[in-house]
Amino acid sequence: VAIVNARLFEQVADATREWTVAFDAMPVGLAVLDEAGRVRRGNAGAAQIAGVASPRDLLGRDFHDVVLQDGPGSGGRGDGPVAHALAGRGPARGILRSASRGVVLDVVASPHPSGGAVVTFDDVTVHHELAERVAQSEARYSRLVESAADAIFTVDARARFTTVNRALEVATGRRREELIGTPAADLLDARDREPMLRTFTSTMGGSRQRAELHYPGPDGEERCASLTASPIFEEGAVVGALAVVRDVTDERRLMEQLVQQEKLAAIGQLVSGVAHELNNPLAAVTAFAQILLATPEVDGEQRQSALTIYQEARRAAKIVSNLLTFARQHRPERRPADLNQVLSDTLELRRYAIRMAQIELDVALDPDLPLTWADPFQLQQVLLNLITNAEHALAAWDGPRWIALRTAHAGDTLSISVRDSGPGIGARDLNRVFNPFYTTKPVGEGTGLGLSISDGIVREHGGRIRVESAPGEGAQFVVEMPVVDPLSMMPRRAAVPGAE
Ligand SMILES: Nc1ncnc2c1ncn2[C@@H]1O[C@H](COP(=O)(O)OP(=O)(O)O)[C@@H](O)[C@H]1O
Ligand SMILES: [Mg+2]
Repeated sequence: VAIVNARLFEQVADATREWTVAFDAMPVGLAVLDEAGRVRRGNAGAAQIAGVASPRDLLGRDFHDVVLQDGPGSGGRGDGPVAHALAGRGPARGILRSASRGVVLDVVASPHPSGGAVVTFDDVTVHHELAERVAQSEARYSRLVESAADAIFTVDARARFTTVNRALEVATGRRREELIGTPAADLLDARDREPMLRTFTSTMGGSRQRAELHYPGPDGEERCASLTASPIFEEGAVVGALAVVRDVTDERRLMEQLVQQEKLAAIGQLVSGVAHELNNPLAAVTAFAQILLATPEVDGEQRQSALTIYQEARRAAKIVSNLLTFARQHRPERRPADLNQVLSDTLELRRYAIRMAQIELDVALDPDLPLTWADPFQLQQVLLNLITNAEHALAAWDGPRWIALRTAHAGDTLSISVRDSGPGIGARDLNRVFNPFYTTKPVGEGTGLGLSISDGIVREHGGRIRVESAPGEGAQFVVEMPVVDPLSMMPRRAAVPGAE
């Protein structure tokens, strides 16, 4: 019996040694706790993680104190996984951070069948920090996307929103809860649907796409956006698309204005070329009319005809020279300007045509109009356009046919108004007439540039142009200019004669 007992004892001792060796070889901390949470046994890993020399140093000490070193009152102690297991409520797991050592432990605790608990724990500080850094970087990314001025969103394989940023919420006026899960096509303008479907199909085919979108802006005016869509790959398959939408309306307008300026310069050159060509024949007509007038045999009705030829040719020459002045590329140059004079000069260019078109002219100029500081050539361009626009409006008009021109001043404002009795402008078009290239005239007759350039010129002078009109009631364009005392703008002379 003694031999058998001795063998059994040896076997048990062997088994215990084997377990101890195995426990110490484990790369994680392992501890058995008594009912009060004190360490009854710990392996080498536990000592290493706790930062003590050997497992013996752990014995009898409170697990929280020795391993986590977080002192009393820390969150893990009362309701952490260890407390959970000690209370016999089953196994529990938690990530605990020690306040004093800065380590993060992944702790798994289970109730021990004979009271107390078995705890394994691992130092996961490195993983934890990595995860935190990833989370931070993700947060930064999402802030970036959130604060972007462009609308950024993703859709799934059926083109339903999966994520949207703030800019898209603002642009659509809908919150993300309303957007996510709904088909992106719901937001599209009818005419964009077909092309967008193609864009989406190609994106899902795996290639990046560009497209153009249209949508109404806050003021109701149409805006234009560019869209870039990229496929989202997951395990080699396209599962959706990422899209960036940028409002390019203003860039487009700028582009149009540049084109307009180019075009204008070209027109200027054309006009001056034509005017030069006309000079010679006109000089010849004038000269031959003069010869006729100097011939005594030409009399009566014939003389009257020659005189008309002479006068009209002179008038044509004047118009040509006026055109040349007008088309000549001159720097905007301001000087003391009398708006009454500018208006009369401009009217001279059109008076004949107006009479021929059987339009009545009603001119009333303010005799006390103060001078202002302006570029007369530029203002002439503005008025010429307003007057010809009025003429055009009356061209095919059956109602009353008159154009009324007024100048006036009130306070610090000078005004010139050009009013006609024509068909007027509908409310819808009223805010469009100043847009570049907006014209209702046939190709060759209108460029749609007149009012937009006029608006620019008047603005540069610190004034504005406004329009009042209703269909069937004619139109009135009013140019309002600030009164600028020319004396205040003149270069100063030395106050004392001879002081220069
Ligand atoms: N007096 C007016 N009466 C009616 N419509 C006008 C009048 N003046 C301008 N418009 C409208 O505004 C448009 C733009 O005018 P404008 O910029 O001068 O270009 P364009 O004369 O080359 O068409 C015109 O085509 C016309 O439809
Ligand atoms: Mg015009």
